[in-house]
This record gives sequence, C-alpha cells and structure tokens, in this order.
Amino acid sequence: MWYEDLTTHSTVTKLRGIMAGNRNMEYADSFLFKFKGYHFGREELDIGFIENLDDFVIRESDVFIITYPKSGTSWFQQLLSLIYFEEHRKGIGNLETVDQVPFFEYNFRKMDFVERPSPRLFATHLPYYLVPRGLKNKKAKIIYIYRNPKDVMCSYFHFSKNVTLQVTSSFEEFMEQFLEGKVLGSLWFDHIQGWYEHKSLFNIQFLMYEEMKKDLKGSLSKVCKFLGKELSEEEMDSIVRQATFQNMKYDPRANYKNIIKTRYGLEAKGHFLRKGTIGDWKNHMTVEQNERFDKIFQRKMKDFPLKFIWDMNEE
Ligand code: PPS
Repeated sequence: MWYEDLTTHSTVTKLRGIMAGNRNMEYADSFLFKFKGYHFGREELDIGFIENLDDFVIRESDVFIITYPKSGTSWFQQLLSLIYFEEHRKGIGNLETVDQVPFFEYNFRKMDFVERPSPRLFATHLPYYLVPRGLKNKKAKIIYIYRNPKDVMCSYFHFSKNVTLQVTSSFEEFMEQFLEGKVLGSLWFDHIQGWYEHKSLFNIQFLMYEEMKKDLKGSLSKVCKFLGKELSEEEMDSIVRQATFQNMKYDPRANYKNIIKTRYGLEAKGHFLRKGTIGDWKNHMTVEQNERFDKIFQRKMKDFPLKFIWDMNEE
C-alpha cells in the first residue's frame, strides 16, 4: 500500500496513525511518502504545500540548488550564503545556512516563503517534473549539483544509520534499497536523467561535486558567472576558505550540528560533514557489489553525456 501514490490529507492522517502504532516497520514503509511517483521524507512534509508546488510563484531573482540527497547540498548552501550575504562572508551574521538557504519542500523552520525578501535562495531534492511552473518557464536560476552515485550511496548509508537513525540494515541491504529507489529522493538514475534530459526547459547550470572538490575556486567562478555576481579576488578567496570541508566542519552556521541535535536528538552520532572525499565507496563496497553496481550503471547511463569522477586521482 505504501508505494501507491497518496494524494489526500485524509489518507495521510490515517497512515500517520497506522505508522505511529508500528515503530518496527521497514525504513521505506515508515519514513517515506510517495507522491506523484516520487519518495518524499515524511518528516516536516507539508502535504498542502507539495500538492500546490506547481503554483508556487517564482521570482526572477530566485535561485534554487537542486540535488539528489548526499550530493553536496549543505556545501552549496554555505557557498550561496557566502556569495549573497556579506555578513555571512565577513562572519558578522550568525544565521545558519539553513536560514539563509532554506529547504524548499522540508520547511522545518516554518518560514513564510511568500513574504521572504529577494533574492530568495532555496535548496531542494525535487525531481524536474514536480518543481513550480515558474522554474519551467526559465524564470529563475537553478544550480544542479551531482556526485558519483557510489559515494552518494555510501554517504547516504552512513547518514541514514547514524544521523536520521532510519536504517538498521546492513550496507548490502541498503544498496538494494538505493538501487530500487526506495529512499528519500527515489532513484538516483531517474533524478539526474530527468533533470538533464529536460534541461532546455530550465535556466540551469550543472556542477560536479568532484570538480568542486578538486578546484573550488574554478567552480565558484563558474557559478558566479552564471548568477551574474561579481566578486573581488579577496572575496572569492574568503568564500573558498570558508567553504572547505575542514572549516565548514567547525563552523556552527554550516555544520548542521544544531539541526541534528534538535531534529534527531542525542542518539544521533553521525555528522552531515562526515568525510567529504572522493572514492570512499572503495572502503565500503565488495568486489561483487561494485561489479553489480557497474553493470547497472552502464546499462542505465549508456548514452548519458555527463562524466563522473570515481577516484581522487582521476582527471
Ligand atoms: S543532504 O542531507 O542531502 O542535504 O546531504 P548533502 O549536504 O547533499 O551531502 C552531504 C555530503 O556532502 C559532503 N560535504 C562536503 N564535501 C566536501 N567539502 C565540503 N565543504 C562539504 N560539505 C559537505 C558531506 O561530507 C557529505 O558527504 P560524506 O561522503 O558523507 O562525507
């Protein structure tokens, strides 16, 4: 039943009751909410909001970061905050990045997005077909960040096991769930292909996590050009410095520690900023798992033009 589309408030309310009575249901059953073929996370989801996503009025000055989960969302929230807000860059303001660049479909600070001053910056995991109509009319700018899916899967496994505590299964079992798309964000392949194949509808810039990792300043220049932001050399250097993994890890505005504490409680042992590397999948996947993954990847991504970087030493 859970994998059918659920589109009404009453069904959701009824299911919440059922879920509350059974804490041991599978991850997919307990934590996901399928709407129009896409798996949302149930927590913090405002059904009324997602039912009306299409009509959400977009402004030309809006900027959306779009990612499949665990592809560098929090990194880019920090980058956008640093690009757009001088106080953030100068360390004067102490607003967290989630307040500067809130999540669009998981509005856990209960902000009034309509009243928010421009430029409004948002982060979202939505698939291309669910975003507001205004984005499809190229009204605002979109930055799509993608990361090699083996590292995404490993990051996701740790996050679900140690932060959200939604997974108690082994890596092997999680890999099956990931490859079936029974996770928040649904299937990785569908997400990236959907966005890439429909890119002509949007004002969109694709950016690779691994390229950011290898040359953050180069990626930043690309992004600033796309956003029409002119920054001095000194400002650029300051942004790059404040967006490194090490600095973000200890920056309370950017490391999500407060959010982990308030949303997931003291039992959560993991971090949003876990390793931040390329190729951590090699420490997780067996030869067999890797071969199986490669076969699926080659089949599904046969004619896909974007390249991926799987190893830190790869060019
Ligand atoms: S979420 O939950 O979808 O918002 O997660 P997301 O922020 O997309 O992804 C988390 C992973 O991004 C890594 N990260 C970084 N890597 C390198 N440099 C910087 N500055 C950085 N900031 C975040 C983070 O460490 C997670 O990856 P893993 O592999 O788990 O470390």
